[in-house]
Amino acid sequence: MLPYCAGCSVFCPFLPNSPSRQTIPYLDHNATTPCDPAVVDAMAPYWSEAFANPSQRGHRPGLAAAVAVDQARQTVADALGVPPSQVIFTSGATEANNLALKGLCEQRLGHGRHLVTVATEHAAVLEPCRYLERLGFTLTVLPVQPDGRLELAALTAALQPDTVLVSVMAANNETGVLQDVEAIAALCRQRRIAYHCDAAQACGHVPMNPMGWGVDLLSLSGHKFYGPKGVGALVVRPGLALAPQLHGGGQEGGYRSGSLSPPLIVGLAKALTLALQDQQERGQRLQGLREELWHGLNGLKLPPGVELLRNGCPTHSLPHTLNVTVRGVDGARLHGQLRRRVALSSGSSCSSATGKPSHVLRALGRSSTEAVASLRFGLGRGTTAVEIDQTVAAVQDALPLAAYR
Ligand SMILES: Cc1ncc(COP(=O)(O)O)c(C=O)c1O
Repeated sequence: MLPYCAGCSVFCPFLPNSPSRQTIPYLDHNATTPCDPAVVDAMAPYWSEAFANPSQRGHRPGLAAAVAVDQARQTVADALGVPPSQVIFTSGATEANNLALKGLCEQRLGHGRHLVTVATEHAAVLEPCRYLERLGFTLTVLPVQPDGRLELAALTAALQPDTVLVSVMAANNETGVLQDVEAIAALCRQRRIAYHCDAAQACGHVPMNPMGWGVDLLSLSGHKFYGPKGVGALVVRPGLALAPQLHGGGQEGGYRSGSLSPPLIVGLAKALTLALQDQQERGQRLQGLREELWHGLNGLKLPPGVELLRNGCPTHSLPHTLNVTVRGVDGARLHGQLRRRVALSSGSSCSSATGKPSHVLRALGRSSTEAVASLRFGLGRGTTAVEIDQTVAAVQDALPLAAYR
């Protein structure tokens, strides 16, 4: 539940004691998750007690901070089945993706010039790929099937003798669609092509064995699995060389210079541990609530000409994500009505920020109008059945006001 000030039209989380304070369901967990209180506790000592710079191993406080970072690195490495030296801490998945894509291409300059990615990737993959294209790489952006899944045959056909890198995400941030990471990794391995997987939305939510499957580069983000914002990691297969993209003091084995943040890194590791502990139980519970939500929406009394269409692939999907196009309504009006009652979004945080229709839904065949009139419900650890009922009621009330007359 998110505090909401009824007196204005924006969220006011700063008014905890206001008489107008209400709570509304928070169903935007794909945008970000709340930091788990146990994670906040684990981070607490590293702000102002054990605050030293972990690069200063020469004195006791620095060593204590370094030990905390080492332990966190070991935790992440164990969870992903790599040696700790293969975990590079970053500021989040955007930076991890940039390091993976640009770092690999720069390292392999002269060995291949072709990149392959998919139309439904996050901007943090598509934009670095387009940047590399401007530098002279050739780029293939593959379409997806109407259910959002990449066809392996299309990927196979796109590979060329000079393909240096394939980047395909594990789970889509808007639709929740899961790609077949294991099969993609096997294909890339056969052809000796590096495979980068943006696992920002999948990690801690669905069972994965990415490094066991043969993924070469894997991006993670702490705030997507109940950890802090501003920290993530790039996990690199042993033996794979990258060109650093941040030059400076040589931290993170020279791959990512800049002082490390022990509280954020400790928080990331704690959040990952907790997320993996309750992943299965949480997934089952949220999948049940998600289907209740879909069932509830299907039972709504729709104004004439209004139709609900589920986006994505229900059988290959994050358990907590539901994306629905409401055909026959004005999307801006729909979201305008709903935002007082439930915190959700129409697409990724990026498309919400630019106001552009989601490129992901466009790639699934939705029109721009339909993409804007789409609702992404991202359920999370705190979501209750009562909130699902409140959300269904909010959509019911919004529909007649948003329908074209
Ligand atoms: C699939 C995916 N990749 C990358 C990112 C960017 O992550 P960060 O906020 O950690 O930079 C996001 C965040 O929305 C995402 O969903």
